[in-house]
Amino acid sequence: MQTELIAVDPHAPDPDRIEQCALVLLRRGLVAFPTETVYGLGALADDEAAAKKIYAAKGRPSHNPLITHVDSVFAARQLASSWSTVADALAERFWPGPLTLVVPRSPRIPRSVCGGLDTMAIRVPSHPVALALLRAVRRPIAAPSANRSNELSPTTAEHVLRALDGRIDLVLDGGPCSVGIESTVVDLCGDHPVILRPGMITIDELRAIAPHTELRSVMLRDPRARPSPGMDAKHYAPRAKLVVAERTQLDELVRASSGITGVLTIGSSPIRASERVIVVEMSADAKKYAAALYDRLHWLDAQGCVTIVCERVPSTSAWDAARDRLQRASA
Ligand code: TXA
Ligand code: MG
Repeated sequence: MQTELIAVDPHAPDPDRIEQCALVLLRRGLVAFPTETVYGLGALADDEAAAKKIYAAKGRPSHNPLITHVDSVFAARQLASSWSTVADALAERFWPGPLTLVVPRSPRIPRSVCGGLDTMAIRVPSHPVALALLRAVRRPIAAPSANRSNELSPTTAEHVLRALDGRIDLVLDGGPCSVGIESTVVDLCGDHPVILRPGMITIDELRAIAPHTELRSVMLRDPRARPSPGMDAKHYAPRAKLVVAERTQLDELVRASSGITGVLTIGSSPIRASERVIVVEMSADAKKYAAALYDRLHWLDAQGCVTIVCERVPSTSAWDAARDRLQRASA
């Protein structure tokens, strides 16, 4: 299949172009579109045949549930079989935005879209292009990150094409994503909210609204302890082998590696760049670091890096999202 590319102004997308993309979705096609977090691979969430195509294009296992996107809290409530006061409070504070809520699923969203579960993940994105598309379609859109299964999530249309050109109908290019890392996923189906996947919205921000929120650690070593289907340890990985190390160990690891080696440091690098060594100095601010992480990893892959040596990030909660993705990328 030929993948079409349509570019729009990220702040004021052209209604005719959005309409064109909406028609592709309504004909059960696959459209990659920008959200504030990462690019999503969209299909109609309330149409089993359409949503199934997402799994085929990504090579995603069928037990891995999709996130449903809607344009309002009202629309989210229509799709959940129950909606708690905590859900209301979190939605009120963080939507539209990079927060996904796991809630009981109503039959309007097919079971297969949710990996066979009775629960569903749902969010209202804040990106003007995503919202315009949702409003034009007037249906919920299921969208996982627009990458091949287990690979890095895309934060530009170019990343999407590199992974999915020829496998999807259309890429809606709305420029680079500002958050740059996937949404925080919070499970609201138990006694207290549990963070299944850390993201830009931190545990401290969530606790300001829902004080009993806890972080479910990813428990990389024990697959039986997997917090949610699809959250396998190995995920979000660049093609290069990624190694996380203390700042003092970077030099030794770079010397021991062969081939083109990328080095990712926090602030100024103790390692000098050379013909074989590419140094990327990242921000010491956790949100800025997370926002740039995938883009830099995609870039190091494109430079042909065989190994990426990455300085360990701080153990404070502000760094939960970056630490989680680096842990998985190096698993
Ligand atoms: O920022 C994001 O969340 C992006 C954009 C496109 O919205 N989407 C995204 O989707 O990252 P995806 O499919 O790559 O990650 C969704 C994760 C799944 O891996 C799954 O573990 C979890 O959300 N999830 C979805 N439904 C769930 C459910 N019913 N129970 C527990 N976890 C669920
Ligand atoms: Mg993903």
